[in-house]
Amino acid sequence: MERCSKLVDIGRRQFLRGSAFAAAGVATAVSLPTQAKAASALALVEYPSNKLANVSDLKPNEPFDVGYPDDDAPGVLLKLGTRVQGGAGPDGDIVGFSTVCPHKGFPLTYNADDHSFNCPGHYSRFDADAGGQQIWGQSTANLPQYALRIDDKGDIYAEGVDELLYGRLSNVL
Ligand code: FES
Repeated sequence: MERCSKLVDIGRRQFLRGSAFAAAGVATAVSLPTQAKAASALALVEYPSNKLANVSDLKPNEPFDVGYPDDDAPGVLLKLGTRVQGGAGPDGDIVGFSTVCPHKGFPLTYNADDHSFNCPGHYSRFDADAGGQQIWGQSTANLPQYALRIDDKGDIYAEGVDELLYGRLSNVL
């Protein structure tokens, strides 16, 4: 009987030690909030420098369809006509955004009247003049905006994205 209790006791200690390690593992796993993990993953991403268009391709306030960082990530370039946050080019008015809603992935439409992107899914709205900031709706993230570079020939290159694209664990696959 005595021997049997010792075995049980050893077993319990082994179990508790294992539980402590498991708890420590869990604590490590949950110590970073999900968004922080996504942000640190984004920081490590090597973005391609992709030529998306030339300035001459853009008409004022009309979306020009592109894909960035790859063809499966739809977006647009816009020449807004006034200097804006994140705007590139000599007038600081050229911007690029993903057109996939950060809430649940519906395709967004552009409203030229107020420079907003609008979601038919749950009606979130995003401001193209303010870096894709959400104006209204259920999304918990702003619209991902491209980092753009324009060379002396007017070629427009995308070289980064400031938010995680919907449905991805990393913007660059
Ligand atoms: S998918 Fe756009 S608001 Fe829900």
